[in-house]
Amino acid sequence: MSEIKQNVSLKPFNTFQIDARAAYFCEIHSVTELQQLIKRLDEFPRFLVLGGGSNLLFCGDYNGLVIHNCITGHSLAKADGQQILTLGSGENWHEAVQFSVGKGLYGIENLALIPGTAGAAPIQNIGAYGVELKDVFRSLTAVDLSNGSLREFSLAECRFAYRDSIFKQEAADRYCITSVTLNLSTEGQVKTAYGEIEAEIERRSLEKDAMTPKDMSEIITAIRQRKLPDPAENPNAGSFFKNPVVPREQAEELKARFPGLVSYPLSDHQVKLASGWLIDNLGWKGRSLNGARVHDRQALVLVNEGGGAPAVKALAERIQREVADTYGVKLEPEPRWVE
Ligand code: FAD
Ligand code: EPU
Repeated sequence: MSEIKQNVSLKPFNTFQIDARAAYFCEIHSVTELQQLIKRLDEFPRFLVLGGGSNLLFCGDYNGLVIHNCITGHSLAKADGQQILTLGSGENWHEAVQFSVGKGLYGIENLALIPGTAGAAPIQNIGAYGVELKDVFRSLTAVDLSNGSLREFSLAECRFAYRDSIFKQEAADRYCITSVTLNLSTEGQVKTAYGEIEAEIERRSLEKDAMTPKDMSEIITAIRQRKLPDPAENPNAGSFFKNPVVPREQAEELKARFPGLVSYPLSDHQVKLASGWLIDNLGWKGRSLNGARVHDRQALVLVNEGGGAPAVKALAERIQREVADTYGVKLEPEPRWVE
């Protein structure tokens, strides 16, 4: 079993680069190693499974055991006329996308350049540019941290929704996901129905029908690099808030007051609002507050400018208050706050 270290800095292990310390820290490289570790879990006050640390805000030192997931490996097989890609949960997600598009497979090309591990992808059902993990998800395996048993979860069992799954609800912190299996395809058509993608296709004079998954992953990568800060240079966790869903009547009222409001109808009754627009319209883009900043190209991204978690939290709370006062809308954080 891997060594359990004490008093380890988590700064290299989270994209906000928060210098919190873990009282105990270990790496797991296989299901067996994890199952051995579980026999010792009650020696620790609490534990946290850590992937790439790209959706976490460490609010202080962590007094328990941080379990850094390093389970790697992948395999590609054929079944039901599809290409089935299974990823060890510690595999880097973007590298998995590169592997997939390198094989000419359709399915996850729009999810290029999302940081983090394959095993965290189901936690919030990662999504970008018109695709969510659930669209290609086949199954996953996970170890029950209460008894070490390994079980499989089907698509229905994961209860995926926008930035949500069973692993953020009743199964939160109960399982360590150990592998994720996806349904990919050698045939298909790239998904272009997102304004920025259409514009980029035109700029590159590409023929939509002839586009390969690799073409699409390159377009997505270019779009993301233009507007999202690289965490290595500007520590961040991507979107800091989810896009809120409000009743249609409220969206219509807001649209009358703020004609530029960006919104997307979800059904006859519900409308999703672009948090980035709500924050931008309040003049926050590019503004700093005591060591944290709102990114100057995407107002939904908060950057740690040296003030650490207190600064990021204070900025987030100030924005939440102003958004609530101005629009009557509650912004919910997307990254997990580890208190
Ligand atoms: P971590 O941050 O390490 O963990 C996140 C949560 O998952 C924690 O609760 C952790 O305990 C749990 N967890 C991690 N691994 C496991 C496991 N194996 N088993 C059980 N629980 C586990 N997200 C999107 O959806 N779309 C985007 O477009 C997007 N863009 C981003 C851009 C940037 C620049 C950044 C920094 C982040 C972005 N994100 C985006 C958020 C983030 O990349 C994803 O949420 C990603 O899936 C997190 O992976 P991770 O391995 O870093 O998870
Ligand atoms: N907008 C502004 N000002 C801003 C930011 C955005 O007016 O400062 C407007 C844009 O012009 C656009 C709309 O808001 O009309 C939406 O912006 P964008 O396309 O950038 O997407 P988003 O809603 O801000 C979501 C996800 C991202 C994902 C992108 C692309 C959430 C919380 N965020 O962002 O995911 O990459 O769409 O699909 O749903 C993440 O989860 O960490 C993340 C980066």
